[in-house]
Amino acid sequence: MEVIHSIADLRSRIRDYRRKNDQSVGFVPTMGYLHEGHASLLRKARAQSGFVVLSIFVNPLQFGPGEDFERYPRNTERDLQLAEAAGVDLVFMPSVSEMYPSPTRTTVSVTGLTSRLCGASRPGHFDGVATVVSKLFHIVQPDQAFFGLKDAQQVAVIEQMVQDLNLGIEIVPCPILREADGLAMSSRNVYLSEEERKEALVLSQSLQKAKAFVESHTTFTPQELESLVSQHIATSSLAIIDYVEVLAYPTLEPFENSHHTPSIIIALAVKFGKTRLIDNLILQVR
Ligand code: PAJ
Repeated sequence: MEVIHSIADLRSRIRDYRRKNDQSVGFVPTMGYLHEGHASLLRKARAQSGFVVLSIFVNPLQFGPGEDFERYPRNTERDLQLAEAAGVDLVFMPSVSEMYPSPTRTTVSVTGLTSRLCGASRPGHFDGVATVVSKLFHIVQPDQAFFGLKDAQQVAVIEQMVQDLNLGIEIVPCPILREADGLAMSSRNVYLSEEERKEALVLSQSLQKAKAFVESHTTFTPQELESLVSQHIATSSLAIIDYVEVLAYPTLEPFENSHHTPSIIIALAVKFGKTRLIDNLILQVR
């Protein structure tokens, strides 16, 4: 496994691979502090692509003022071990000055899809994501790129960007990996105190309650599901709800009644202390 820090070196390494092979290049962009969720993306890339590129870059553009850019967890040594074990061929780890040598004057902004959920509560976040992912796509020029549905809105934004800008990259959405007790894996889980970690279980539990409700009702409104989920989350005294929203999937549009909505997403963001966690569940409606 090679580790490359410069854009020029990465380009020449990939050009070299392409000259000698006609297999596909698979790409998994991350911000590091890797866990089994990231590993599942890497394994999928390993199974589907001839050459697997992982990027580790904590992207300042996607963090708002007062968010956790400075204290975002990092552990390069452990990340490289996990990457190696997952069969990664090349790790791209640029510095901030390598990615943004001068103030950036070009922003990739995907409209509409970013007005709700995390787009509403983190203004500018998805511009930062779309801009860095677009830069990484231009640098790596992969055939496939793998993204987790843990960040379902991010997947929708990237798919839209690829379509609108004719990037010709296949986006492969991958299922959410969870801890044994149901908590969605996240690099940010490390911030949780022991008590917060226990209480954070209300998130996945509330989604399971919503699933049972959907399975036992022929029709329902988004509000019914939202209040069911919010009420369960409120049983934790430490939880502060940012949003709980039920939308049509994959359009991420509001709907009035489940009757004409084949697929929905129940999405939530909740703070425990300083730590903001997100989770979601995508369900087929009968
Ligand atoms: P990061 O949060 O490091 O996540 C990298 C990828 O891993 C994303 O596609 C995310 O959805 C996926 N992932 C995280 N937790 C997961 C889980 N429990 N199960 C499955 N997949 C999971 O998302 C980002 O970084 C950044 O926004 C990035 C796309 C790299 C742009 O900076």
